[in-house]
Amino acid sequence: MSNPIIEKIDKAIIDVEQRLAADIKEADIEQVRIDIFGRNGMFPALSKEMKDVPPEQRRETGQAFNVAKQKFHALLDAAQERLCGGSTDENACDIDLTLPGCKWKAGRKHPVTIMIDDCVAVFRRMGFIVAAGPDMETVYNNFDALNTPRDHPSRDAADTFYFGDGRLLRSQTSPVQIRVMKSQEPPVRIVAPGRCYRRDTPDATHSMNFHQIEGLYIDKDVSMADLKSILLSFAHEMFGPKVKIRLRPHFFPFTEPSVEYDFSCIICEGKGCSVCKNSGWLEIAGAGMVDSNVLETVGYDPEIWSGFAFGMGIERLAMLRHRISDIRWLYENDTRFLEQF
Ligand code: PHE
Repeated sequence: MSNPIIEKIDKAIIDVEQRLAADIKEADIEQVRIDIFGRNGMFPALSKEMKDVPPEQRRETGQAFNVAKQKFHALLDAAQERLCGGSTDENACDIDLTLPGCKWKAGRKHPVTIMIDDCVAVFRRMGFIVAAGPDMETVYNNFDALNTPRDHPSRDAADTFYFGDGRLLRSQTSPVQIRVMKSQEPPVRIVAPGRCYRRDTPDATHSMNFHQIEGLYIDKDVSMADLKSILLSFAHEMFGPKVKIRLRPHFFPFTEPSVEYDFSCIICEGKGCSVCKNSGWLEIAGAGMVDSNVLETVGYDPEIWSGFAFGMGIERLAMLRHRISDIRWLYENDTRFLEQF
């Protein structure tokens, strides 16, 4: 004899299985739950029909009824679990755990900035403080006050960017020396990192825009030996205790005597390689004892005060440290390059 309640239940099971099969949403599951167990849902309706079931079918119907209830609960739970990835957290259902996570890329310091920070840290430990000057300088601060003769090649318009109103883009950080000395009495112990500009044709080792760090130390009885010891300490702090330094006579208008100083090659340790062009030495920067003309210009008495100055190229140091073969890498903002630091 057919049993209309069991038939209904069987039909409902197939229907619910279909409804919960495809990719369902939280709301779909809830709707199935309401349709089956809700106040006007299937089970309350079937319960009412139970009283019309003939007594000989009651047992069978009751059993089917209970089995079906469990079946529906199991179907709903399974669907819920598929949706939430097994989490019991209600809110988890809003998160699609199958999506790949998105990784936030943190910004990072540019290798030039890292180098500036490291240089400043080394000189700070030696008692220097940081000074700064503008990129747009006066011809006076960049050249005249630095004892640079009118016919000095660095003044050429082919080398320096002029604005035509007595100002220029500073070609070196040395004008900061003038600004500091004009604004304070000695003693002075400063470093000044900053941008410089020269009309160079860009290539692997030249850029129209680069950075230097200037150092200036003025006190009583400052000698070349002090300069050498500061530069040696810097070399050791920067590249390790094995590095040697060498001073070669040179000329700068604002220092007398002037030197260029080299570090023993940090790559081949002085044996000779392509980076040091087989010389075993790396040219790092210029330095010297501040010329008495400069001291007089800023109003310091050269009979009482003496001192040294140095200036080095930040890019050169960064390129050596990280073995970067072309300065242009530092300015192209290629994230594949920048992400390495
Ligand atoms: N300003 C010089 C340059 O750019 C470097 C320098 C600085 C030399 C201080 C001596 C003293 O080449």
